[in-house]
Order: sequence, then C-alpha cells, then structure tokens
Amino acid sequence: MKKVLLSGIKPTGTSGLHLGNYFGAIKQFVDMQDSYDSYVFVADLHALTTVHDAEQMRKNIFDIAAAYLACGLDPKKVVLFKQSDVAGPITELTWIFNCITTVPYLERAHAYKDANVKDHEVSVGLFDYPILMASDILIQDADVVPVGADQKQHVEYARDTAQKFNRIWGETFTIPEPLILEDTGVVPGTDGRKMSKSYGNTISLFATDEEITKAVMGIVTDSSGNRPENVYAIHKLLRTEAELELLYAEHAGKYKALKEALAKDLQDFIRPLREKYLALQANPEEVYAVLRRGAETVRVKVEAKQMQFKKAVGLE
Ligand code: TYM
Repeated sequence: MKKVLLSGIKPTGTSGLHLGNYFGAIKQFVDMQDSYDSYVFVADLHALTTVHDAEQMRKNIFDIAAAYLACGLDPKKVVLFKQSDVAGPITELTWIFNCITTVPYLERAHAYKDANVKDHEVSVGLFDYPILMASDILIQDADVVPVGADQKQHVEYARDTAQKFNRIWGETFTIPEPLILEDTGVVPGTDGRKMSKSYGNTISLFATDEEITKAVMGIVTDSSGNRPENVYAIHKLLRTEAELELLYAEHAGKYKALKEALAKDLQDFIRPLREKYLALQANPEEVYAVLRRGAETVRVKVEAKQMQFKKAVGLE
C-alpha cells in the first residue's frame, strides 16, 4: 500500500505564485506523484480569510488548478480537487476540533501572532486557520505533508490535534509528518529574505522574459564578498554547485554578467511552464473537468472518514 500524500496552496492570486511555492512545495508534489497516493488541492476556504471578491476568488481558484497542471501534476496519478467541493465534511471536522482546542494554544500560532501585531481586528477565520488546515490533513489520513518551512508549525498543530482527538475518542486519525526539503524549505527572494508576496521580493512562476530580467536585475547585491550571495542563492535552485563554481569563478566580481546568466537560466526554466499555463488558460474546460473528477473521487474518501469520526464522537 502506498503512503498518502496531501498538500495544498491558497488561491490568493497566481501573479503571487512564485519560485518559493514551486521549489518549496509544488516540485515535491510532482516528484512524489508516482510513489505516493497523492491528494493535492486548492485551499479556497483558507483564501477566504483574505479574498472577499467573488470574481477574483473564481479566477484565483482556476489559476492554481491550471498552475498545478502546468507544473507537471498528472491528474491520472494525483487527485486534484478544490477544498470547498468537500467543505461539508472538512468544516464539520473543524468544528469538532475547535471544541477540543484551547484559545491560548491557537494564540501561540506564528501566523496569528504576526497578523495580530499588524491588525488587532483579526478575523475568527484567520485565528482558526490552523484547525481548518489540520482538518484538511487529517480527514485524508495523510502520512506526509510536503510544504515549505513556513508551514511546519501548522503541520505540528495537525499532529497535536490528531493526538488529542485519538486520546479522547479512540484511535481515529493518522499522525502526519511534514516533509520539508533542506535545500528548498526556505527559498530566498530578491532581497535575500524568504521569498514571499508580502515582502514584494518574488519572482513569479509564470513571469515573461522581460519580467524575469527586471526581477533579476533588481536583486539586492552587496560587494563585501567575492560573489553576489542573493544571486547565487537563487541560481542554486537551477544548477549544481559544481556548475556554479565554474561560472562564478569565470565572472568573479562581474555582477552584471552573473545576473544575466541567472536571468537566462530562469527564462529557460520558466518558459515551458508558462507556455503550458497559457495553453490551459485558453482551454479552461480541461481544467474544470480535472477539478470535477477530483471532487468525485475525494468525496467518496472523505465521506467514509466522516462516518468514522462522527461515530467516534457519538454523532452517528
Ligand atoms: P501557501 O499557499 O502560502 O504556500 C504554498 C506552499 O508554498 C510554500 N512556500 C515556500 N516554500 C519555500 N520557500 C518559500 N519562500 C516559500 N513560500 C511559500 C509554503 O510553505 C507552502 O507549502 N496554509 C497553506 C495552504 C494549506 C495547506 C493545507 C498546505 C491549507 N491546507 C494542508 C498543506 C496541507 C498555505 O497557506 O500555503
């Protein structure tokens, strides 16, 4: 029996989908699709914490689904679905988990603490975000959850919550493991900090050649060392260290030439992904059909699990 893999991405706008999402998460899903029983979804209920425009939401959902396909997820191997297509069982489980989760425990979540510093009017949805995510993971009996390092704490919340439920109501949920790659768990952005939409330091996954050049030329360099570290750190996503050693020795001190080399490598890497993505944008029915089939498959699975957890707590 194959182990179960589960992961998702929030549809908050594909212009915001960047190399960090790809190398931290999506590439793992693609690389593992043959060896795991894989479920990959569009986390639209999570996106509702920030996206409050219906048209925008519909577009964002489509874009993430198209991005999954463009990056090489094969719907014959992976169940691709959108979270809201199984919202009933997932939110029911979230409510049950809410009833065994304390407020101080959720107050310790990094995402909540960061949001609360910026805005004291944090929504209940944002506060409860880790528990909705625990439900996504546990309802599938996921063994592994491939994510970037920023999601580690959320997977720990899922583990704690599964253990608590199992203690109270008996063995029901599998304890999941986060899968975070050492090299790409934190993909750096153009300023050396973690690549993140909120820092404005991203390189978009489907960027045009011109956008790539502009982003790369904007990489923050400092001339203290003998190589531009922020350029090198992004370059390392695409080439081996041996290749880079030669290239960076050849162009020692010539930051412009090194940036041009990186821009070219990124353009070559992104071009086929972008072309596939644009082709899917022109053929939306193909994408919607994948999501519909995914919903049918996943519904059967989560409804069976729903019966099990409702029985465990005495609701069936
Ligand atoms: P999201 O949509 O913010 O990000 C999607 C994935 O991209 C990873 N990531 C990065 N990895 C490395 N370096 C970076 N700079 C970088 N930036 C983003 C994230 O770690 C993530 O893996 N809460 C999740 C979505 C979610 C989910 C789930 C994930 C909802 N339910 C269940 C797994 C399982 C999120 O907001 O990811």
